[in-house]
Amino acid sequence: MKDTLNKLSTTTIVLHWLIGIAIIFMMPVAIYMADNEVFWLYPIHKSIGLVLFVFIVARVIWRVKNGWPEPVNEYQIWEQHLSKLVHWVLIIGTVLFPLSGMMMSGAGGYGIHLFGLELVAMNPDPNDPYAVIALNEVAAGIGHETHEITAWAMFVAIILHIAGALKHHIMDKDQTLNRIKGKDVSIGE
Ligand code: HEM
Ligand code: HEM
Repeated sequence: MKDTLNKLSTTTIVLHWLIGIAIIFMMPVAIYMADNEVFWLYPIHKSIGLVLFVFIVARVIWRVKNGWPEPVNEYQIWEQHLSKLVHWVLIIGTVLFPLSGMMMSGAGGYGIHLFGLELVAMNPDPNDPYAVIALNEVAAGIGHETHEITAWAMFVAIILHIAGALKHHIMDKDQTLNRIKGKDVSIGE
């Protein structure tokens, strides 16, 4: 089923909430993990990120094929542009998180593991059993920087996005939030 003005497809709804809620929970846990070097959380963080990547790619393909949902009403021009920009930041951010994470870990020599299954091999330091040697330090650095910048951009975008959703629901009293909850809002053709 495709998205229509009255009802969004199950694919859109399920992917929106699965990815959205996962990211809202992952971000603070990951910041806590990185700030306090909670090493046991790293493999869990990476594995969940890799699993999410599959759904994220599916969602991008779905959006490219189906376009964005049509607004339920006509809004001010600044509002239309801002919501478009925020949706783009959100969807690009969801792609950049796992990509930059894989780049940081893979090129950093840590390898990439999915719940213990080795996808990219580690590069252990022969002189130190607790250390690894980076395969490409520049690439690992770019991955790390990108991961951090993505976190900041997503933080701002998510706040604006939730504020926008609440504005539609409480101030405009329109069907925007109800529609992303899966309701048939029967606005028109
Ligand atoms: C409590 C949290 C959230 C609420 C209340 C919410 C609400 C909404 C609403 C009302 C829409 C529909 C906009 C329209 O009809 O034009 C929407 C779409 C969208 N939201 Fe959220 N959202 C939340 C979290 C997130 C998060 C965390 C992300 C990013 C990871 C996100 C990404 C998107 C994207 C990309 C769209 C465009 C349609 C799509 O591709 O699914 N949302 N959201
Ligand atoms: C949707 C998926 C992901 C989200 C939302 C996410 C989010 C975050 C956030 C907010 C941080 C803390 C800020 C920072 O240091 O950048 C972080 C740290 C980190 N992430 Fe991710 N990440 C995701 C996927 C991945 C993947 C797939 C990997 C690797 C395979 C990865 C590896 C890391 C590492 C190694 C750190 C710690 C960096 C440090 O110690 O400074 N992440 N992640």
